[in-house]
Amino acid sequence: MKVEGSIALVTGANRGIGEALVRELLAMKAARVYAACRNTGDAAHLVAEGAGRVIEVQLDVTRDDQVRQAAARCADVNLLINNAGLSQFGRRLINSPSMDEAIAEMNVNYFGVLRMCRAFAPVLKANGGGAIVNILSAAALSNLPVLGTYSPTKAAAYSLTQGVRAELAEQGTFVSAIFVGSVETRMAADVKGVEKVTPAYTAKATLQSLERREEEVDADPMTIDIRARRARDPKKLERFLARSLKMVPPV
Ligand SMILES: NC(=O)c1ccc[n+]([C@@H]2O[C@H](COP(=O)([O-])OP(=O)(O)OC[C@H]3O[C@@H](n4cnc5c(N)ncnc54)[C@H](OP(=O)(O)O)[C@@H]3O)[C@@H](O)[C@H]2O)c1
Repeated sequence: MKVEGSIALVTGANRGIGEALVRELLAMKAARVYAACRNTGDAAHLVAEGAGRVIEVQLDVTRDDQVRQAAARCADVNLLINNAGLSQFGRRLINSPSMDEAIAEMNVNYFGVLRMCRAFAPVLKANGGGAIVNILSAAALSNLPVLGTYSPTKAAAYSLTQGVRAELAEQGTFVSAIFVGSVETRMAADVKGVEKVTPAYTAKATLQSLERREEEVDADPMTIDIRARRARDPKKLERFLARSLKMVPPV
């Protein structure tokens, strides 16, 4: 799909990878970009940079009402980028005090994506099929125990991506999964000793892969390494990733 001339909506657009995606969409000549963010005004800097091409939309992906309103308001979208995400470094499956955070992460990273896909599928159909791009994680490929509760949310979103692709094939919607390793954003601020790419690097890799119609994209060297290790010996990779528990105490 050509980015030039497209009308895109990016969730979690106010900072991190989402913000970089908005900037890259502008650079690649998207006609309009809806910068969706939870708090009104958080995307004001992007609206200013967009000189008429960026429109801020208030959108918490855990809120059915706001998702419905966004689909009604942004009825011209032909590119949906599900980027919004929630993660707490050090959150364990067992050795953490409550399940509240695990449930919150699943609500954003899995159900949030599902809500958005369901609401925007008819919009994309009405606009010729278009595309859905889901920002996933290398942790979807094999559980990274230091992100114990987050990893299953991304594995679930990976499975969702495959199912949505099958369901929307008939209406001509292209659906892709972007596997991201480690990026210099607030989400990864506590991740030490790992090579990180910039949000701009991830945004470029994402949109260039869309133009090449790649359904599964390993967006950086860390993800490429994890996928190669998994192909060689998945149990050895599991044991390797288990050592991540030593990086930080549980939160
Ligand atoms: N950074 C990495 O190393 C890395 C690695 C693998 C995958 N990823 C994935 O990349 C995506 C972007 O992450 P990032 O690194 O840019 O993280 P970030 O800087 O923490 O940004 C997260 C974005 O998601 C938004 N968000 C959180 N909960 C939301 C909700 N309920 N509704 C709408 N928006 C919500 C945040 O909004 P507020 O500002 O309002 O909180 C923020 O805009 C995520 O899906 C993440 O899982 C990141």
